[in-house]
Amino acid sequence: MRDVTLLDIFEHHITQKYVKRSGFAHAIAVAYHAFHFAKQYHEDVDIATKAGFLHDIGHFTWYRNGKWDYELYRQNDIHPIKGAERAHKLLIRLGENPIQAKTIALAILFHTDSFLPSNDIERTPLQKIVKWADEKDEEEGGAHHYRTINKERARESIIRLDKMIDEELQSFEKKRLTK
Ligand SMILES: [Fe+2]
Repeated sequence: MRDVTLLDIFEHHITQKYVKRSGFAHAIAVAYHAFHFAKQYHEDVDIATKAGFLHDIGHFTWYRNGKWDYELYRQNDIHPIKGAERAHKLLIRLGENPIQAKTIALAILFHTDSFLPSNDIERTPLQKIVKWADEKDEEEGGAHHYRTINKERARESIIRLDKMIDEELQSFEKKRLTK
């Protein structure tokens, strides 16, 4: 049994405020990609999926004169830092295991190179998975942040993913016990 489900995270008002800002459609797509990559590379599907879903929770929109401004974004953006902190606080509040909450926060911190002074950091396999999952859903000009999904469909997708995680963790546990 997991301490916190994706549905617990989805329904929290902090998520409804901040993940909504960067787009639930993108967050859910990245969570699904992260699940499949984690399964493929034998990483923890629960951690990968939560990090994927929350990776842009620190997003801030950089506008100038009503238009998205890439230069401002490139110079000033720290959404992975803000996101790591915000996600960590939220997960701890919901009762997440602290080691797991830290692993998720670090995966969010390193999900992109865009804010780092150089792009030579060594990522763990889990951190790579969250980065790939995000890149897999990216659209030109940041269009992935503007794709929409209604709340009911978003909720259903989250419930379905929770089920997939539980099944995967159960079959992993079974395999471990029969070894
Ligand atoms: Fe993203």
